[in-house]
Amino acid sequence: MNNQTVQDTVQKNKAVKKYLNFINGEWVESESGRYTRNTNPVNGEVLGEVVASTKADVDKAVQAAKEAQKKWRNVPAPERADFLYKVAYLLKERKEELAQTLTLEMGKVISEARGEVQEAIDMAFYMAGEGRRMFGDTVPSELRNKFAMSVRVPVGIAGLITPWNFPIAIASWKSLPALVTGNAVVWKPASETPFLAGEFVKIYEEAGLPKGLVNLVYGSGGEVGNAIVEHPEIDIVSFTGSNEVGKQINGRAGELLKRTSLEMGGKNAVTVLEDADIDLAVDGIIWSAFGTSGQRCTACSRIIVHEAVKEELEQKLLKRMETLKVGDGLDESVDVGPVINRSSLERIHSYVKIGKDEGAKLLKGGEILTDNGLDKGNFYAPTLFTDVKSDMRIAQEEIFGPVASIIPVQSLEEAIEVNNSVEFGLSSSIFTGDVNRAFQAMRDLDTGIVYINAGTTGAEIHLPFGGTKGTGNGHRDSGVASLDVYTEWKSVYVDYSGKIQRAQIDNY
Ligand code: UN1
Repeated sequence: MNNQTVQDTVQKNKAVKKYLNFINGEWVESESGRYTRNTNPVNGEVLGEVVASTKADVDKAVQAAKEAQKKWRNVPAPERADFLYKVAYLLKERKEELAQTLTLEMGKVISEARGEVQEAIDMAFYMAGEGRRMFGDTVPSELRNKFAMSVRVPVGIAGLITPWNFPIAIASWKSLPALVTGNAVVWKPASETPFLAGEFVKIYEEAGLPKGLVNLVYGSGGEVGNAIVEHPEIDIVSFTGSNEVGKQINGRAGELLKRTSLEMGGKNAVTVLEDADIDLAVDGIIWSAFGTSGQRCTACSRIIVHEAVKEELEQKLLKRMETLKVGDGLDESVDVGPVINRSSLERIHSYVKIGKDEGAKLLKGGEILTDNGLDKGNFYAPTLFTDVKSDMRIAQEEIFGPVASIIPVQSLEEAIEVNNSVEFGLSSSIFTGDVNRAFQAMRDLDTGIVYINAGTTGAEIHLPFGGTKGTGNGHRDSGVASLDVYTEWKSVYVDYSGKIQRAQIDNY
C-alpha cells in the first residue's frame, strides 16, 4: 500500500473515538463514570476516550463469564473451533485497518504492525485446528480389562492481563487457547493500547461467540488488574509485562493457590563469533535491536562479539545505523517509530546516562530527538554503546528502547557465560559458520528461544514462546504448550472387568 493511501484512510478514521467495556455481550459504561485518554505517541494528539473501570466492573464480567463457561465447556471442541475459524477470517479481512490502528495508538512502523496482526491471524487458524486435536494420552492399564486415558479439561475462567507492545498478538496467544479449550475470558488490556483490544473483541462479537465468554474490562493495573488477581472465581491469571508486576501477581496468586502464567522481561543477546558472516550479523542486529524501537521482550540489547571481529562489526553497524529513518510509523519509509510514552522516553534516556557514568563508550545516538517536529512525540535516537562490561547495569537491566551494548569476549565459552549472566532468559542468538559451535551454543544458551544465524526476534506462533529464569514461571504462550496453561489434566480409568481390581496390589 502506498504512503498516501495509508495516510488518507487514517485521516478518515481519525475522529476521536470512545471505547466501552464489553461485558456479557454488551458494550457498557464503567460503574466509575470515569474515562482515560488514548494518545498518539507520534504527536501527543488525543485519539479517544476509554472507560476507567473498577472492581465492580470486574465482578460483573466474572459473573457473566461464569454463566457462559458452564455451557461452553460442554460444547464439543471442534464446534468451539468453528468460532475461532470465523475470528481468523475476520482478522484477515481487517488486517490493514487493524494494522493502521495499531500504528496510530502504539507507534510501531506499519510493516511491523501488519506483521503483528498476521501473528494473531496465524494463531487463530492454529488454535482453531487444536479443536480437532487437543491430544491426551491413552495408555495401557496395568490391570486386565481396564482402560486408561488422560483428557484435557478447561480450568474455568481465565483472567488475561496483556501489554501494549504487542497488543493483538499477545492477546491472541492467550485468549484463543483459553477459548478453544473451553474457558471463558476476562481481559484487561494495557491502558496504552485500548483500541486494538476493542477492535479484537468486536471481531469476537461478530464471529458470534456466545455472550459472556469474552469480557473486556478497561482500566489500570492497580484497580482492574488487582481485582482480576484477587477474584476468587478467576482460576488462572495469564500476564505479560514487567518483572515487578509479575512478581506481585505471582506472590498474591500463590497465596490464593491460583495458577499463573507469567511472561516478563528479557535482556537478549546476539553473539557474533569470529567465523560469522558479519554482514548477516549486522542485518540481524539492526532488526532485533531497533525494530519496534527496541520495545520487544525479545529485542537484542546486548551484542557479544569476539574481539577479532569487533572493529569490523562496530564500523558496519554504525554505517547501517546512519541509514535508519526515525519518524511516524505510518510513513512506509520510516524504520524506527516513537517509543510508547514520555515516561518510557525518559527512562531510556536515564539508562544512557547510567551507561556513560559506568564508563561505557557511546558510539552513536544517546539522545531524545526533537528536530523536524519529532519534539511533539516520544522519539529516541537508535543508540549504540561499546566496550561494555557484562556486569554494568546497561548490560544487565531491561531498557525497553532502541539501545544496544557491545560486549567484547575472547571465546565461545566466554560468550555463553556472558549471555547467561543476566537474570532473564527469553531469547538468544549466535552467528557462526561452524556447525559444531552452533550446536554447542544451542545446548548451552540458557534461554527459552535460541536462534542460529538470525536475530533474537521473530518467534513463530506454533512454537512455545517464553523464557527461563526471571523471564517467566515455567509456562509458555503460543504453540501447543499454551494449552497446558488453560487446561487441567483429568486421568480417567474405565474398569470393565466387573470386579474391584486393586492397582499395585492385585497384580503383584
Ligand atoms: C514480545 O515482545 O513480547 O518474537 C513478543 C517476536 C514476536 C513476538 C514478541 N513474534 O519478536
